[in-house]
Amino acid sequence: MLPLKSGVTIGEGRTPLVESRLRRNLFVKFDGANPTGSFKDRGMALGVTVAKEAGADKVIVASTGNTAASAAAYAARAGLKAYVVLPKGNVARGKLVQAALHGAVIIAVDGYFDKALELVLDHGTKRAYPLNSFNPWRLEGQKTVAFEIYEELGCPDNVVVPVGNAGNIYAIWKGFKELGELGLCPKLPRMIGVQAAGAAPLARAWREGLNSPLFVDSPKTIASAIKIGRPINWVKAFIAVRESGGMFVEVDDGEILRAQAALARADGLGVEPAGAASVAGALALDLPGITVAIATGHALKDPDVVEVKTISISSQEELIPLLER
Ligand code: F0G
Repeated sequence: MLPLKSGVTIGEGRTPLVESRLRRNLFVKFDGANPTGSFKDRGMALGVTVAKEAGADKVIVASTGNTAASAAAYAARAGLKAYVVLPKGNVARGKLVQAALHGAVIIAVDGYFDKALELVLDHGTKRAYPLNSFNPWRLEGQKTVAFEIYEELGCPDNVVVPVGNAGNIYAIWKGFKELGELGLCPKLPRMIGVQAAGAAPLARAWREGLNSPLFVDSPKTIASAIKIGRPINWVKAFIAVRESGGMFVEVDDGEILRAQAALARADGLGVEPAGAASVAGALALDLPGITVAIATGHALKDPDVVEVKTISISSQEELIPLLER
């Protein structure tokens, strides 16, 4: 079911599927447990393998951060040079640190992700091998999450996915459809795409019953990974949601942060805000049947969104009353 065996690998995939204590019949697929802390590694393994086989010596991505971190790591592993083009001030700290650590050339652009992607499309792709999700190999790799869910749980009724540039929801749908073609999934899951309210070109269009997105010029959300106004894969995402009988929904930043905290405290899963958006969507919708929410990225990616409370003490006299409280 995969076009070739991944040559370049750091051990991606096989992430935990955890039955949540937040809601009956809710499972969380923790793709933040991938080597660089996000689902991007599934696709990057294949994408970088193809880049290397094609004889490329440089790869390039535009990114809200996770694609950059993953491309930097897999390019390093393959001995390729990575260029990452990022929206200045819109990338979480952990992701920047990863790109730097793995030796990528970091280029910061004024504007949002959409501007960074436009620059890569206009000027980058002729000079370096592009590894954004318009590259079909990325999506081929990302569909493996469907195969893992099938192996662990069978075919769920609903799969809830955070949507930014809108590639992953299609990749996962493609994976389930292939299981269906093999007779393994008699009933395919509904694909539910979740967007942040301030960056919801697809969810808004869906609500209005439109056939094309209501692009957003100035996206706003705490979930910087999905702070995208013009998703390049929107056609594919519409196909996934329509064919599967699913829907797009939006959740606001408050719901995202509450879902992030609830998941951390009920299930011990630390996810970044975009990764919590799917859980927020699943909790808001109360879907019938078995639901799998994809938690796409690790909490440590974006440490700055979490409020840290500490109690300072300097003696045991101060410690004991705290413990007996
Ligand atoms: N969740 C996380 C943690 C992400 O990093 C992304 C996308 C998504 C969800 C949405 O996936 O774009 O396939 O709809 N991050 C990209 C990046 C845009 O550059 O890292 P999508």
